[in-house]
Amino acid sequence: MSRPLDSEQELIRTDVRAWLAQQEAKELLRFITCGSVDDGKSTLIGRLLYESKQIFDDQLAALESDSKRHGTQGEKIDFALLVDGLSAEREQGITIDVAYRFFTSARRKFIVADTPGHEQYTRNMVTGASTADLAVLLVDARKGVLTQTRRHSYLAQLVGIRRFVLAVNKMDLVDYDQAAFDAICADYAGFAGKIGIAEWVAIPVSGLNGDNIMSRSDATSWYSGPTLLEHLDSVPLDASADAEKAFRMPVQWVNRPNQHFRGFSGQIASGSIGPGAEVRVLPSGRVTRIERVVTLDGDLDEAVAGQSVTLTFEDEIDCSRGDVIAAAGDPSEAADQFEATIVWMAEDELLPGRGYWMKIGTQTVTAMVQHPKYEVNVNSLEHLAAPTLGLNGIGVAEIATDREIVFEPYSVEGGSPNKALGGFILVDKLTNATVGCGMLHFALRRSLNIHRQHLDVSRETHAHLKGQKPAVLWFTGLSGAGKSTIANIVEKKLAARGRHTFLLDGDNIRHGLNRDLGFTEADRIENIRRVGEVARLMSDAGLIVLTAFISPFRAERHMVRRMIPEGEFYEIFVDTPLADAEKRDTKGLYAKARAGELKNFTGIDSPYEEPESPEIRIDTTEMTADQAADLIVEELLKRR
Ligand code: ADX
Repeated sequence: MSRPLDSEQELIRTDVRAWLAQQEAKELLRFITCGSVDDGKSTLIGRLLYESKQIFDDQLAALESDSKRHGTQGEKIDFALLVDGLSAEREQGITIDVAYRFFTSARRKFIVADTPGHEQYTRNMVTGASTADLAVLLVDARKGVLTQTRRHSYLAQLVGIRRFVLAVNKMDLVDYDQAAFDAICADYAGFAGKIGIAEWVAIPVSGLNGDNIMSRSDATSWYSGPTLLEHLDSVPLDASADAEKAFRMPVQWVNRPNQHFRGFSGQIASGSIGPGAEVRVLPSGRVTRIERVVTLDGDLDEAVAGQSVTLTFEDEIDCSRGDVIAAAGDPSEAADQFEATIVWMAEDELLPGRGYWMKIGTQTVTAMVQHPKYEVNVNSLEHLAAPTLGLNGIGVAEIATDREIVFEPYSVEGGSPNKALGGFILVDKLTNATVGCGMLHFALRRSLNIHRQHLDVSRETHAHLKGQKPAVLWFTGLSGAGKSTIANIVEKKLAARGRHTFLLDGDNIRHGLNRDLGFTEADRIENIRRVGEVARLMSDAGLIVLTAFISPFRAERHMVRRMIPEGEFYEIFVDTPLADAEKRDTKGLYAKARAGELKNFTGIDSPYEEPESPEIRIDTTEMTADQAADLIVEELLKRR
């Protein structure tokens, strides 16, 4: 077994500073390993760490005793135990999270992301791949290319990895048979060609025995290519690609320690910057020049992609977190409608039309995903019609954001991907869980060409002419809670006081504007979105708008709240216990729902999410509809 790093060990002992400087100067290659369960990834990585002597003696002793105890490899060392650090993983015999390992060769240092093979761990796979330069795909020589191999290749390619190694592992179990190896290569070549992977090499290895990992194996005399480490050591790196693009820096925070200093901090996503450079702050478009490039180690004359810096401007112009500082002559686009690839990573499926937080660069906006144009079958690469995306689903869909975002298309033909301004994640607004990630393709033409028309008669003028302040009184509650009844009385009372009002009622709207919608979750979301838009238009026209819809989901009520100017939205929770609403059953619908004749009925087999902090709560067990209406009118007039 070769021990190329003995000299380094010596250096650590004699001159640790010199050793650190040597490490610092080495090139860095980040790669991921992926494969199906049992392909032997952990063993392979353990072997790399072991042979490159990244294992310390005490770890080695523990490993030997663990190997005996867990005993999957008899008297041999079980390298997987080294990598499968978490005890829970050991017990289940699977790897469950992305684990980053570090090792070095004489020439390079490596960070390897070990990503799990189980299907439900696409999230980890994407996480690991998003920062990697190369992917090592493991296949078991006995099994060949599997669905997982194709899925991982597809995902890795999708997030921008351009270099692949097909490590055909467990060659010892097929007697180092060249024909078996060749057949797997031929199979993979077909798939790689279809998804556009141009650069890949196949290497026959055995992680367990160490064949062709660091040293060439006698058992594969028919193989003349590099060993795995030779390849990792020599594959070209295109680290400078980002530095050559136009300058972009998403602003992470405004650094203002005292009134004499105002700097904008962030990590440079692409390009380079220095004092005097002309920049444009996006989305506002204001132009200024860079005064200083400040870092912890002092001012710089030039900083490049990947560095974290604080920039100061020559002029006092507005710039805040989420803005992007870009080269003045070659700025990014801003838009609010896009086509994107989306990878769904949550158990609950994507709800088209629902608002999710979208985080891109340092910007956070609300985004709505349309019904996918198609889902990709990663095996056949077929485009399938799909109403939505489930766990691990990959599809293409249009996305609309609630305001313009500054972006770059994620992947550009032949270039390295624009990860910072083209990649995004989607976060559930209520649970705060990351539910998906994606890559922007391009802005849809309509967001570039449909500009908002400036209207000379403003919403203030409309309101002024009516002599009132507009408002949206949003009644929510179970079917039969009394929303329509109370809203109706409120409107009468307001009208009697000379107020200009309009009542949008669920049952009525569902006969007209929304007659194409039913009661699935997606349809209810769309129902509320449209009603929210109409309520906003009517409030722009100066009206006091009343709406009576079950509106069962917090997320959509929150969405409407954000559409209406601050202070004009009143969420009114008509709180009637389910038992009472059911007892009244004015329309006989609860009886039908209980009998199973009506599906997705709110409160029965579809949820109602109570408001957490409504402006007004009406307890219908304690007051009549008329008293409730008085209370609401009083509350409204008190505030305006
Ligand atoms: S919402 O959930 O999308 O806000 P909306 O308020 O428009 O519902 O409509 C609710 C009314 O539709 C109910 O008052 C009831 O009369 C009728 N309805 C018919 N089917 C259902 C159902 N499955 N769930 C709830 N309401 C239903």
